[in-house]
Amino acid sequence: MYQALYRQYRPKTFDEVLGQEHITTTLKNQIQKGNIGHAYLFSGTKGTGKTSTAKIFSRAVNCLNPVEGNPCNECEICKGILDESIMDIIEMDAASNNSVDDIRELRDKVVYPPARAKYKIYIVDEVHMLSKGAFNALLKTLEVTP
Ligand SMILES: Nc1ncnc2c1ncn2[C@@H]1O[C@H](COP(=O)(O)OP(=O)(O)OP(=O)(O)O)[C@@H](O)[C@H]1O
Ligand SMILES: [Mg+2]
Ligand SMILES: [Zn+2]
Repeated sequence: MYQALYRQYRPKTFDEVLGQEHITTTLKNQIQKGNIGHAYLFSGTKGTGKTSTAKIFSRAVNCLNPVEGNPCNECEICKGILDESIMDIIEMDAASNNSVDDIRELRDKVVYPPARAKYKIYIVDEVHMLSKGAFNALLKTLEVTP
């Protein structure tokens, strides 16, 4: 199957994310200590690894055998997330799901526990594309302390 180059070479571990060691080291330390936040905001220039890092993080926190904070990418959980058979990691593209209703739906579902993974994770990609109303609705979810 054809895969665009950028997808083919998407880094799969924190150690493969280049030039962002200040970020990846922090995230790996938090995972090793089991001291993770309930929301993260990645900002930066186009193509610097924000989406890749979010996807790596979603596996690392749920991985059964993390390697120094990196996801192993071999356990059943990592594999299930990679092949998208585990539905607890929800990727939303805010550029196409940018309405208040889409975010309300997220907010309503976020309260249910994960089915297979330890943590349910919403990756809201291109979050700057959310409408003003949707952003305010999302803010309520981000502000809630678990
Ligand atoms: N720090 C990095 N180390 C290694 N490869 C990278 C890095 N940043 C980007 N890449 C390469 O570029 C591709 C796109 O990266 P990614 O989608 O994570 O960037 P992004 O920051 O989310 O960009 P955008 O702002 O366009 O959404 C990756 O699949 C990878 O091939
Ligand atoms: Mg991105
Ligand atoms: Zn794993």
